[in-house]
Amino acid sequence: MKIIDFRSDTVTKPSPEMWNMIKSMNNSKLGDDVIGEDPTVNELEEKAAKIIGKEAALLVTSGTQGNLVSLLSQTNPGNEILLEEKCHIVGHEVGSAARIGGLMVRTYPSNRGVPSIDHLQDLIRYKEDIHEPATTLISAENTHNFHGGAILKPEILRDLKNFAQKNELKFHLDGARIFNAAVGLNTDVTELTKHVDSIMFCLSKGLSCPVGSIVAGSKEFISKARKFRKMLGGGMRQAGIIASFGLVAIEPNWIKRLEEDHRNAKLLAEGLKSFEHPIKIHNPDTNIVILEFLKTPKIFKILTELGKEGILAFTISNKKIRFVTHYGIHEDDIQYSIDKIRNVLNRYNYE
Ligand SMILES: Cc1ncc(COP(=O)(O)O)c(C=O)c1O
Repeated sequence: MKIIDFRSDTVTKPSPEMWNMIKSMNNSKLGDDVIGEDPTVNELEEKAAKIIGKEAALLVTSGTQGNLVSLLSQTNPGNEILLEEKCHIVGHEVGSAARIGGLMVRTYPSNRGVPSIDHLQDLIRYKEDIHEPATTLISAENTHNFHGGAILKPEILRDLKNFAQKNELKFHLDGARIFNAAVGLNTDVTELTKHVDSIMFCLSKGLSCPVGSIVAGSKEFISKARKFRKMLGGGMRQAGIIASFGLVAIEPNWIKRLEEDHRNAKLLAEGLKSFEHPIKIHNPDTNIVILEFLKTPKIFKILTELGKEGILAFTISNKKIRFVTHYGIHEDDIQYSIDKIRNVLNRYNYE
């Protein structure tokens, strides 16, 4: 049976160019990265820093580790940090900011990832008050996963930067899919990253590497992050094997390929919108399509039925199914999937 896997862009496998890169490797391109001697990792970190517009960069094992080393490097235990209420750090990183960072997490509401600055201002604690924890960092997510791959535009990031500066906060960006945002806006990624103190982006999502993420910021920030990465068990040795995939992934042509995923997401959304069912399809900014049921369905039953038709997806609430387009899903797979999803919903009995 044909399987179309919309569960995440993390299911992607390396491209032929990535495999060619691996085939051309030899021992001279590897060294011990914990002591800074892996030439391929060093090359990737330099290349990533340049592309993302920061002084320095660091290869980490995952987006989760990258976000955590960024928080640890820019805060102290007992500080309060401001995070968007549906962001990945709050809901999907196992509470690491609290458990490992000793951080108080205060969430802010948003409109598809975009907060009200007035509301944020109300959340800032009084430094002078003996009772209150110090607010020291704000984080945003771009694109915003659980808001359907929503893009935060440069002017929003600029406003957040001004807010952060006014209140002496560090500004971290969970940019797991920052290149989707840049490609979606048809802008240089540095237009988005120039406003933040630290950024994490993933190599292992739409860029389709098997493993790895990048953290970037000032040289001082990266030297702290390197130490925290070691603390978290992320010091890898001949990590050039991993980094070589990343070198291909951040080539301009490979970043531009994300356009294909965005086109496919739009096609999927258009197809789903034509269904006569009590559902709402959220317009995708990038590569994530959210199908929302207007009545509360037995969502896991629907997912199981989709699975039987070869359509794999995840739920993100008891009313929403998320479909993620990515490398390996082609335009003709989209029409095929729309037909399969229609069959399942036509059979479903909404009570
Ligand atoms: C927005 C966002 N941030 C961070 C992560 C964490 O990345 P990883 O799965 O590599 O830990 C994800 C993963 O899906 C994500 O969607």
